[in-house]
Amino acid sequence: MLLFEKNFLSKKNLIMENYYPKIRLGGMGVNISDWLLSKTLSLLGQIGTLSGTALERVVACILQNGDHGEHIRRAFSHFPFPEHTEKVLNAYFVKGGITKGTPFKTVPFFNLNPDPLLVSLTICANYAFVWLAKEGHSNPISINYLEKIHIPHIYAITGAMLAGVDEISMGAGIPLQIPKVINDIYEGNIVSYNVPVIGKNITSSEVRFDPKSFFGSNLPSLKKPHFIPIISSNLLALLFTTKLPPGSVYGFVVEEPTAGGHNAPPRNKVEYGIKDVVNYNEIAKLGLPFWIGGAYASPEKLKWALSVGAKGIQAGSIFALCKESGMWPAYRKKVCKLGFNDELQVRTDIRVSPTGYPFKVAVVSGTLSEDYIYELRPRICDKGLLRTLYEKSNGKIGYRCSAEPEYQYSHKEGILADTVGIACLCNGLLSTCGLDDPGEYPIITLGDDFSFLKKLMKNENDSYLAKDAVDYLLS
Ligand SMILES: Cc1cc2nc3c(=O)[nH]c(=O)nc-3n(C[C@H](O)[C@H](O)[C@H](O)COP(=O)(O)O)c2cc1C
Repeated sequence: MLLFEKNFLSKKNLIMENYYPKIRLGGMGVNISDWLLSKTLSLLGQIGTLSGTALERVVACILQNGDHGEHIRRAFSHFPFPEHTEKVLNAYFVKGGITKGTPFKTVPFFNLNPDPLLVSLTICANYAFVWLAKEGHSNPISINYLEKIHIPHIYAITGAMLAGVDEISMGAGIPLQIPKVINDIYEGNIVSYNVPVIGKNITSSEVRFDPKSFFGSNLPSLKKPHFIPIISSNLLALLFTTKLPPGSVYGFVVEEPTAGGHNAPPRNKVEYGIKDVVNYNEIAKLGLPFWIGGAYASPEKLKWALSVGAKGIQAGSIFALCKESGMWPAYRKKVCKLGFNDELQVRTDIRVSPTGYPFKVAVVSGTLSEDYIYELRPRICDKGLLRTLYEKSNGKIGYRCSAEPEYQYSHKEGILADTVGIACLCNGLLSTCGLDDPGEYPIITLGDDFSFLKKLMKNENDSYLAKDAVDYLLS
């Protein structure tokens, strides 16, 4: 059954048509795949994917740090509705930057009726990152979002499309609603998204956005980006191709459970086994381009991916650890050194993420991977990106996150056991890219394979560029 009726084949994204580079940069959040890394990959003739996760917070922090290089302000100066960038600059830009150790100004939480400043910030932030990644060249740029962070999608994608993003990729959920969102923004319609609600009587609630009334005029003419769901099984590939109108999905990234970041849960809910093995023949039969990710960062694995019909690979960790990555340099160097010396461990933690998905955690001293650091951090929820909606006993909708203080969570009718072992990924991941509030510690995610480090580094203190990684993979 078709979810909606428009034929998506009619309006094509001409730049991306039949453009099949062998390497896709994973859209690594928060701000690991930043505009510089994505642009670098794109200029190297590969797919440069931006992380779109929490960009409103990332940009608010960059502006408070003084926006060195004036990059965000340069991008903002091209935004078609300058009263919105002005509002954002007035709220967050600090000339010369705040003093180190000062907490960043609060950014409002998303809810079903978000603060108009937050909406402007989200649209302008996504616009700025895409604009910067595309500045000065015409190669395609992709942006990645986590489906699970539902509410911002309609605003974030509007910002990315205003800057001419070529492709949107999305995992951590089943993003069946996204092709319609893209189409509605493209057509200048009111955009909506059904956000799941945990409850007996209410199971979803809608967020709506009318760009025309928000900006006071129609959006300029836009390009329609391709849509690439990130999936973990051939069954999911089939779901997208049968549930949605033809042309809704351009292709797939198939991510195996060895990949960095969030992973799909095991089919039997306990451990990965034979049922989790992807049948690439079945995916190839669908006739859509696909790329394979998860411990594929070697020339041999790339060749294998091509041999099963993939267009290439999606690689994350190898680029998270290159010099252009948005990872804070001190953490990057520490991880590279551990990896080079065979002293790095990465565990698949099934509890740590409030999303409920398994999450890969690199075991690194001074990070939330250590029990004593985890215990040291007072639970506080001041970013709220991973809050879920639930039906309160009074029938209203509430918001809660299993990483928030236990008493708050149970006060919000949450089960206390669900808070055990959960970490605040919002603050942890913002710290990893150097945008930490005082007292926050990083959490570093990486895939299971980092054997590439020995190929790219001459000694434990060596570093490498994205180009070295691309040359190695294509060798
Ligand atoms: C530091 C890091 C952060 C990541 N964050 C995200 C993310 O926000 N969204 C996403 O779809 N994938 C994310 N991933 C997964 C990558 O996009 C990519 O698919 C994966 O890393 C490929 O496996 P590899 O790390 O073995 O190369 C992340 C991976 C890493 C290493």
